[in-house]
Amino acid sequence: MINDRTIEEIKNRMDIYEVVSDFVQLKKAGSSYKALSPFTDEKTPSFNVSPSKGIFKCFSTGKGGDAITFLMEMDGLTYVEALRYLADKYGVAIQEESTSQEYKDAQSERESLFIIMNFAKEHFVKNLWEVAEGRNIGLTYFKERGFSEDTIKNFDLGYSLDQWQGLIDAADSGGYNQDYLEKAGLKIVKDDKAYDRFRGRVVFPIHNITGKVIAFGARKLKDGDKKSPKYINSPETELYHKSKILYGIFQAKNEIRNLDNCYLVEGYTDVISLAQAGVKNVVASSGTALTEDQIKLIKRFTGNVTVLFDGDKAGIKASMRGIDMMLEGGLNVKSVPFPEGEDPDSYSKALGSNAFKEYLSKESKDFITFKTDVYMQDGSDPIKRADSIREIVNSIAKVPDPIRRTVYIQECSSLLKVDEQTLITELNKLILKTHREGNQVANVLKDSRIIQPSIPIPVQEKVVSIDEAIKTQERDSLRMLINYGEELVEEVTGSGVGYRLVDYFMAEIDDIDFQVPVYREILNLYRSALEKGNILSISDLVGHDDRAVSQAAVDISTERYEVSPNWNDKYEIQVSHERDTLKSSTFTNILRLKFRIVQKMINENMEKIKLAQQDSEIEECLQIQKDLKAMEMTIAQSLGNVTTK
Ligand code: CTP
Ligand code: MN
Repeated sequence: MINDRTIEEIKNRMDIYEVVSDFVQLKKAGSSYKALSPFTDEKTPSFNVSPSKGIFKCFSTGKGGDAITFLMEMDGLTYVEALRYLADKYGVAIQEESTSQEYKDAQSERESLFIIMNFAKEHFVKNLWEVAEGRNIGLTYFKERGFSEDTIKNFDLGYSLDQWQGLIDAADSGGYNQDYLEKAGLKIVKDDKAYDRFRGRVVFPIHNITGKVIAFGARKLKDGDKKSPKYINSPETELYHKSKILYGIFQAKNEIRNLDNCYLVEGYTDVISLAQAGVKNVVASSGTALTEDQIKLIKRFTGNVTVLFDGDKAGIKASMRGIDMMLEGGLNVKSVPFPEGEDPDSYSKALGSNAFKEYLSKESKDFITFKTDVYMQDGSDPIKRADSIREIVNSIAKVPDPIRRTVYIQECSSLLKVDEQTLITELNKLILKTHREGNQVANVLKDSRIIQPSIPIPVQEKVVSIDEAIKTQERDSLRMLINYGEELVEEVTGSGVGYRLVDYFMAEIDDIDFQVPVYREILNLYRSALEKGNILSISDLVGHDDRAVSQAAVDISTERYEVSPNWNDKYEIQVSHERDTLKSSTFTNILRLKFRIVQKMINENMEKIKLAQQDSEIEECLQIQKDLKAMEMTIAQSLGNVTTK
């Protein structure tokens, strides 16, 4: 168990902006930051980070919380894993509560698997550098391929000894659990015999986004050896889901974000050679077709991908399929062709670092030009030409953004010397066809890809129940308290002391109790903190043990309209200059709540009158009704005054 002091220290140091930035491209918007949600496929940014509050909020999924919650949601970490990640990031030394044996026992399986993978990685690295067989065979192999020592270390490359139980024995003497070795995919058990999965091969560890090893790829040393496969890879395990990870993402992610572009290659060695040539923003799909999850992974860091595949026919075909998927995912796709028989690894070595970089930037073509080039190589056969055009338009149809689509159509038209309108017609036909195939004719009109007359959508006046209205007002009132509780609403001029919003709030709210349980809970938390002379901060609430409280605090303090840039600007002015507005907004919100409560009481009293039997009872109810009506009127007038001011 990590002790409380350590957790406290981590929480003090963690910075939501810094933590989220490692995964998501944030853009400044007023006092907060915005981004496309990393949890969905959205086209307009609804993901919000507020550094001052220390929280994030994703409006399309409803997820929200502090930096710890973010890591748990984003990377699937457990609470403890997230704490460890942060401790590592911020250099906080972790103090354990209990002895290390107890701690070992208490660890989750996932953590144990991480530990054993790390052990295996270190074992393979040690073999490579310190064991004669490793140095003679493995290290020599890497050096012959032109990898520098720095590169080898940076990618944690290693070597598995040519023995049946090299790793198994090492794990045994290190006291590691053999079951986990098997669960981690490192040990194979067959007919009562156990042996290492990786033997006599150079080893490429595969890291997750936070830099932990989750799998290995192991290459054979002699290409002439036809019997065994070129690579043996880790199987799917609890840590490793091949379709969700890209090789090299950990080493590349910062550079991808900084350069706002990601090079995509096929193999481990392509990644390593490019990185060594100074092209560090590179990842590999590891020889399989790109998946949606991998596209999402790239989109966390950039909207731009440059595909680098082998110069052979198969390589080009593979890149075509990948390109269409990336286009559908909303990525901006470019491609660099390589000469026949060359791949990024071989060509970077052939040209050398500088010439290779120059080649990449000079030969990088957007996908239209790339596809056009490929298809036009077949000559000027008119039938083939028509096929090519259809093929290219097919790709354009996959681009979700209408503006970009228009640009591509124009480009395609000038490159292929085809009339633009012809292409648009072709494009619309294709889009209609996909809808028909999916039997979704009704959706056709909704498809933004088709140019259509605008149909006005009737706005339906929403009928809100009184309870809904009360809930909204409770929320609006609470929002003032949570966001501005500590603000001074009346100051003894220049003194920095005076009447805080929280004091004002409590006086105005009187003894009203909120109807929504979690709001009532929050209000009570404020009340009891005040009794002790404290004011709750947002982070107190967000970090509260009760999930409901923490979630509500996040939701309320990041109301949708606050995200709009206008609102932010507006708020900034209010907060920093117009404390009067703060006070009257609080007053108004509480008054609106009281108004709704009175209305609810009137409704309830009416029901009572209907059911009343005795005259005296009716009499009493009627008197109450009169009083309530008078109260309603007073508040309405007061609200009128406030709101028209
Ligand atoms: N691959 C695999 N198993 C194989 C062959 C290939 O898993 N039997 C995957 C590996 O991830 C490999 C990628 O496909 O990195 C690309 O294959 P290839 O180009 O053949 O390998 P390289 O990594 O480029 O290796 P080398 O440069 O040594 O040919
Ligand atoms: Mn290759």
